[in-house]
Amino acid sequence: MTKENNNISMEEIVSLCKRRGFIFPACEIYGGFANSYSYGPYGSQLKNNIKALWWKKFVEDRKDMVGIDGPILLNPKLWEASGHTGGFNAALVDCKECKRRFRADHLVEKATGEDMEGRNKDMTRALQAKKVPCPVCKKFNWTEVRDFNEMFSTNMNGITDENGDYLPVYLRPETAGAIFMDYKNILDSTRVKIPFGVAQIGKAFRNEIVAGNFTFRIREFEQMEIEYFIHPDTKWEQQFENWLVEQNNFAQEIGISKDLLSRYEHPKEKLSHYSKKTTDTMFKFPFGIEELFGMAHRSDFDLSSHAKHSGKDLSYDDRNTGERYIPHVLEPTFGLDRAILATIISSFVQEDLGEGESRIVMKFPPKIAPVKIAIFPLLKNKLELVKKAEEAYDNLKNKWLCEFDDNGNIGKRYRRQDEIGTPFCVTIDFETIEKDNSVTVRDRDTMKQERVKLNQINEYFEQKFN
Ligand code: GAP
Repeated sequence: MTKENNNISMEEIVSLCKRRGFIFPACEIYGGFANSYSYGPYGSQLKNNIKALWWKKFVEDRKDMVGIDGPILLNPKLWEASGHTGGFNAALVDCKECKRRFRADHLVEKATGEDMEGRNKDMTRALQAKKVPCPVCKKFNWTEVRDFNEMFSTNMNGITDENGDYLPVYLRPETAGAIFMDYKNILDSTRVKIPFGVAQIGKAFRNEIVAGNFTFRIREFEQMEIEYFIHPDTKWEQQFENWLVEQNNFAQEIGISKDLLSRYEHPKEKLSHYSKKTTDTMFKFPFGIEELFGMAHRSDFDLSSHAKHSGKDLSYDDRNTGERYIPHVLEPTFGLDRAILATIISSFVQEDLGEGESRIVMKFPPKIAPVKIAIFPLLKNKLELVKKAEEAYDNLKNKWLCEFDDNGNIGKRYRRQDEIGTPFCVTIDFETIEKDNSVTVRDRDTMKQERVKLNQINEYFEQKFN
């Protein structure tokens, strides 16, 4: 019997991530820190592989895309123009008894089934009318529901008012802002022509009232975002759909299970005034079906607003037709941490091997697996075996990410690499040195083993990985 994907619990995922060096709680020796996590040796490699694949697919392999890498700290005027300073709010309510904070809209929706987002007075009344208890202390003593701006603010030398007092500077709550800031320079410095997209991978920060569900909702996370600029009269519906398909394809390419993906189209009455359509790609996490990626038609809102606030002309000059216009924008956005979590959940398989034995194996697609080949000498105290294994490692590591391991018995080494998701293990044994220079190559998924000559091993893996 195998147990995979969604019959697993978050506890199993969190435990594997820590045990195998994918994701650790941050600052654990000090008791952790506010739902922060650190990607460990295998997690950071997995993350880099996913980023590289995304960058290749959406920037390097496309004629209509360019990339940027903008700053985290940006001129606060940007966030005024984008509406974040005034409107990037969540509804906050405090329990006066245990002093804990909650998202009021989440409490109200759970109690009434109604989405009252943006109606703080109604939410205050609903909490009273339904006598909603505090989820932690179970008492009933709420403050009024009020807005809480989720942007993190800090201070910066030189950014002060006339009295020398610091003015707030914000950590970007999304990477998109930096793309709009570079739009004009991109037009002036490259050969892009409408339609074209600008991509960026980077950190974003949101002071979430309640973070949780492991790395699903954290306060410091990474996004991979695209702003795709189109002519205002373009028939955008098909392009919008194409981007959703691209998002779905990318998810599957990094091993996210197709069966756990779905879509959620935001109701028209809930859209921002400037958005023509917003559709989320959803994933069935063990704690429920939640947003994985977002896709929005943002009209000309951002460029027009920045043109107005900055006084700069941000129109696009079409040299062929002589037309000048502010482009509209399609925005496919990919949350990197959620993508990694969904990949880990989708790849997790627990296999019953019979006779009371079982194994956990991470069936990552080889191209994102943190280690591609593990190399073992059968015994660590036999110098000839270790030397030969080191030679094999030195050879293979030039092409593939390899790991050398001489610790413990072979069975345990295989189990460890299964949990890391290493597609192949190579064992150097006595036959290698005494007989025919062949090694055992073991396949992660089938556990089948075959003998391969060391002088043919590069071609062998070349074929396997292609
Ligand atoms: N520029 C559009 C934008 O930021 P969003 O839906 O707010 O849209 C995009 O965020 C993606 O970023 C989400 O689909 C999600 O994957 C990720 N994301 C948002 N908030 C997050 C958080 N607190 N923790 C982890 N990922 C988050």
